Amino acid sequence: MHPKPNEIAPASGKLGVLLPGMGAVGTTFVAGVMLARRGSAKPFGSLSQLGTIRLGKRTDHRVPPIKDFVPLAGLDQLEFGGWDIFPDNALEAASHAEVLSKEHLALVKDELERVRPWPGVFFPGFVRRLNGTHVKTAPTKRDLAEQVRDDIRSFKKERGLERAVAIWCGSTEAYTETSAAHASLAAFEKGLADDDATIAPSMIYAYACLMEGVPYANGAPNLTVDIPALQELARDRALPVAGKDFKTGQTLMKTILAPGLKARMLGLRGWFSTNILGNRDGEVLDDPDSFKSKEVTKLGVLDYILQPKVYPDLYGSLYHKVRIEYYPPRGDQKEGWDNLDIFGWLGYPMQIKIDFLCRDSILAAPIVLDLALFLDLAQRAGLAGTQEWLSFYFKSPMTAPGLYPEHDLFIQLMKLKNTLRWMRGEEPITHLGREYYD
Ligand SMILES: NC(=O)c1ccc[n+]([C@@H]2O[C@H](COP(=O)([O-])OP(=O)(O)OC[C@H]3O[C@@H](n4cnc5c(N)ncnc54)[C@H](O)[C@@H]3O)[C@@H](O)[C@H]2O)c1
Repeated sequence: MHPKPNEIAPASGKLGVLLPGMGAVGTTFVAGVMLARRGSAKPFGSLSQLGTIRLGKRTDHRVPPIKDFVPLAGLDQLEFGGWDIFPDNALEAASHAEVLSKEHLALVKDELERVRPWPGVFFPGFVRRLNGTHVKTAPTKRDLAEQVRDDIRSFKKERGLERAVAIWCGSTEAYTETSAAHASLAAFEKGLADDDATIAPSMIYAYACLMEGVPYANGAPNLTVDIPALQELARDRALPVAGKDFKTGQTLMKTILAPGLKARMLGLRGWFSTNILGNRDGEVLDDPDSFKSKEVTKLGVLDYILQPKVYPDLYGSLYHKVRIEYYPPRGDQKEGWDNLDIFGWLGYPMQIKIDFLCRDSILAAPIVLDLALFLDLAQRAGLAGTQEWLSFYFKSPMTAPGLYPEHDLFIQLMKLKNTLRWMRGEEPITHLGREYYD
């Protein structure tokens, strides 16, 4: 267990937010922060900006905003940098993504244009549907990592940054399993020098960030900071890491609904989920290997929430199926259908149909913001390694070895808020009636 931080270093100075991948999610986040800080729009969906936290007993009436309770960097302190395999600046990439309106983008046009990606680290086998044109070249993967480290150092120097954090907003890489080169830091560094084929671009960014003292979160389902080598590096350097795969859209709905059905001991026979989406993410996920990474994170959720082994009569024969269909006319405005076959008293069947007309990047952008601010807080509080209290934001939360992930959104929120209370020396809230503890 981590010792309780005695002191959290202040959030002074500028905080760099580094984005490997500046596509729909990355630019919606950057433009959104720019709009919010000039008062042109509100950062809805962000717990760090809008959430409150109850302290003490209900009768104490102490409910400060989270951002006043823990020392978080303010939106004005953020500076943005990133990498992409296409040279478009943030304005061009945001226009191409068609998430935000022309009117919104026009308000922050100059600021967005100044965010220009550095060339990316890219090996086509990991994202087959894209043909990167703005990429680094070097004799080995170790040299590529050095180039990324140089980018980070120059960015920090040029902008006068105190600290930085990184959030992967790049495309989903093809599914890979842990290999020998991932097993330890020494093996990984040897693998970089030997150009080991199992070292993915995302791992090179994460390695470079951690070597530069930059905490890292993984917004996609591919393996990155969850390989033993990078876990070791995060612990050695006392840096927080988190992942993986932002919890938005259909999976968010699943982790809201499933705990409710289970709480009422209603059974489930089947849950069929299908999506249509037409953005670049959808195009990448049209490739079966990239989809495999996604499918694994999407399917795990219900098993952990419903505990079919503990409740075999209710959930033992659940048929769970997830599909993603690339359908260009829809762009970023995904539509997710769910059909739930449930049963109640005496086994009588019922159905629930959900049609979620969502906007993927609108749901993901506030997650990027919260992760950037909370990872920075974690670092200043001296918390190292996987930050399970940030599970709230992920489809497939990383855990300490041997532990199962917590998927229930409400347990995740309680864990997040209790961690904040613990950091500030406040009692956790147990919801035990006051008549029992007074
Ligand atoms: N939008 C959501 O709701 C959501 C939810 C969960 C996870 N995600 C994940 O977030 C990521 C970003 O989603 P998006 O909708 O912004 O996709 P996108 O395709 O619009 O953006 C991804 C960007 O990453 C770039 N890229 C790819 N490989 C790269 C590399 N090696 N280095 C640097 N840049 C690279 C691409 O050129 C692209 O600009 C995806 O992996 C997606 O699966 C998104």
